[in-house]
Amino acid sequence: DKAIAVMTSGGDAQGMNSNVRAIVRSAIFKGCRAFVVMEGYEGLVRGGPEYIKEVCWEDVRGWSTEGGTNIGTARCLEFRQREGRLLGAQHLIEAGVDALIVCGGDGSLTGADLFRSEWPSLIDELLKTNRISQEQYTRYQHLNICGTVGSIDNDMSTTDATIGAYSALDRICTAVDYVEATANSHSRAFVVEVMGRNCGWLALLAGIATSADYIFIPENPPVPGKWQDGMCEIISQHRSHGKRTSIIIIAEGAIDTELNPIKPEDVHKVLCDRLKLDTRITTLGHVQRGGTAVAYDRILATLQGVEAVNAVLESTADTPSPLIAINENKITRKPLIDSVALTKSVADAIQAKDFEKAMSLRDTEFIE
Ligand code: F6P
Repeated sequence: DKAIAVMTSGGDAQGMNSNVRAIVRSAIFKGCRAFVVMEGYEGLVRGGPEYIKEVCWEDVRGWSTEGGTNIGTARCLEFRQREGRLLGAQHLIEAGVDALIVCGGDGSLTGADLFRSEWPSLIDELLKTNRISQEQYTRYQHLNICGTVGSIDNDMSTTDATIGAYSALDRICTAVDYVEATANSHSRAFVVEVMGRNCGWLALLAGIATSADYIFIPENPPVPGKWQDGMCEIISQHRSHGKRTSIIIIAEGAIDTELNPIKPEDVHKVLCDRLKLDTRITTLGHVQRGGTAVAYDRILATLQGVEAVNAVLESTADTPSPLIAINENKITRKPLIDSVALTKSVADAIQAKDFEKAMSLRDTEFIE
């Protein structure tokens, strides 16, 4: 009987609890022991039964209807150092864990990929320094790791949706609808800043869903000094047709083609100075990560949790570590290493000012 552990890592996302529940229950259903790692990679670094806990079927009862992540999460600096990963490896082996499923975003899965690739040298060092026995060394030769993508940003390449993205999108749309009502009363403009780190998915989709007047996303940046005219022209046009509200959605990572950040204050100033609009800024912040998951995220997280357990049980030392994705409505497996590399290539394309490439790598074909 194998022991399968699950952890959530990085920023929380709605649906992570459904994912953990499905992994724990599938593991037990398949005759394995189930563990949870508390507080993300920090739990691995600290180790012991308080942080690497065996759980039973009832421990995850009702979790699909709960927001956040009940096993905690963290952005762990220590795990970025080799010594942190060495401790992580030692603690996993001490707990007798055969496979680790990490539910997290881009950064967390990059960490998982590094941990897997370093594993042989980590266990060599643990053996040499007598931190594990020869027997443990022989048994835990290979780190069986799998990623499920939990992030509101929807910024992971090779998957159409990340767990939490549609819930955050729903939170944004509700908030923009609220703002729209008060904007209408006062005939005001609102600049709404949304999360997404360097990814414009939330801003773009929220803009479409709420019929926003103008959208700023990092993958399709405007020319410096030019966006002001373009935006004012469109907004004036809408106003001239009797529209009483102006909603501008700006991704937190918005930039211009010279990679200068475009901030809500910059947009606010242009709307006030040039169009004389009574303008307010609304930064939605962590409200976007709050509340329970929408049905889509609960279902996605559950199906992907079941698939993650299947994947680790079928994996051998020769199979590449999988990332559980969804493509064209089918739950799929992708090599984790490729997904991480492709995701990084989007950031690289933006840095190299190759925005066409960045856009095409974002899997936004249905919009184009
Ligand atoms: O990655 C998810 C995310 O919510 C991003 O959209 C945002 O930039 C970041 O996390 C906020 O991080 P924190 O919760 O640490 O403030």
